[in-house]
Amino acid sequence: MPLAKHFTRQFASLFTMLALVMAFVLTAAGCSKKNAAANANSTSSTNSAAASSNQEQSYTRNIIIGFSQIGAESAWRTCNTHSMQTAAAEAGIQLIYSNAEQKQENQIKAIRSFIVYQVDVIVFVPIVQDGWDNVLREAKEAHIPVIIIDRKIRTSDESLYAAYIGADHVEEGRKAARFLQEKYKDTNRTLNIMELRGTDGSSVTDGRYQGFREVLQNDNRFSIIYSETGDFLRSMGKELAERILSANGKLQVNGTPVDIIYSHNDSMTLGFLDVFDEYGIQGGKDVTIVSVDAEQAVIDAVAEGKVNCVVECNPKTGPLVMEFVQRLVNNRPIPKITRIEETVFTENDDLSAIEPRGY
Ligand code: AHR
Repeated sequence: MPLAKHFTRQFASLFTMLALVMAFVLTAAGCSKKNAAANANSTSSTNSAAASSNQEQSYTRNIIIGFSQIGAESAWRTCNTHSMQTAAAEAGIQLIYSNAEQKQENQIKAIRSFIVYQVDVIVFVPIVQDGWDNVLREAKEAHIPVIIIDRKIRTSDESLYAAYIGADHVEEGRKAARFLQEKYKDTNRTLNIMELRGTDGSSVTDGRYQGFREVLQNDNRFSIIYSETGDFLRSMGKELAERILSANGKLQVNGTPVDIIYSHNDSMTLGFLDVFDEYGIQGGKDVTIVSVDAEQAVIDAVAEGKVNCVVECNPKTGPLVMEFVQRLVNNRPIPKITRIEETVFTENDDLSAIEPRGY
């Protein structure tokens, strides 16, 4: 090995060791403060509320969260990350952010590194439902509580996480279907639906898929003639629309015209709209479009008549996560499941007065 390279490597490993030692010292300092605060709380139960809240605040400043995010596949996701980062900064909590770039293995690696680092709480968005038990067991053995946000996991051991905060994705699917039933309440003809699914294997896609079918299954006017994943990506929505329309310029699947598009998120919807413009198809008129998320661009599209309905999915969970983290580290109870309230925006609403969405 050349001498220069040898020294660079030596220096790099020395630097890594120093960084680890520093991290350990900082973490240990945080832990000893945590114990002090915990002890103070447990031995002074008769203290005034103000005193105990001061103790919590001084402890709060030392909290470290390890946050594993899926990636940045949509405006919704970017807003969710931003909500976590700003809420952490406002609460004086240190957030170690890790972007998994759409890979579960990267999330597992990130969670393992948070365990080594001994963060106070791990927060993560599971890209898919299955395959988390081993790493969550490691977190449990290290006594690090885990909060799951947005998407859910499938596990036989619910003790592997402390709390779940997120939307009811099954209900979002139901809301999309109920809008269609209401819109077509006076129609008797068959209505052909094309569905754009989100990431397969995720609880959010499963929920939106199931809830939609649950409502429409006994209404035989509605027929889901095609369903394909666009992975929540605008580029894939665009690709799929191109593929269908380039065949003969018509929105048809195997010769059957599509009346309705049900898209599991706004990014894919916007991808479709990009291509519609090229083919002179009028979204909202030639084809009914129901989307999920309610990002600003799609609220605007509803107002312009290009999309008929958008079911809200709220990404701004950061402040609630920080509140739960503070309660957890102070040994105060938190609910196991917390659902985020959401609404629906349709072509029948006056959208001129709604607050800017921020995503
Ligand atoms: O998990 C929530 C979904 O993921 C949002 O609907 C979508 O836009 C995002 O990427």
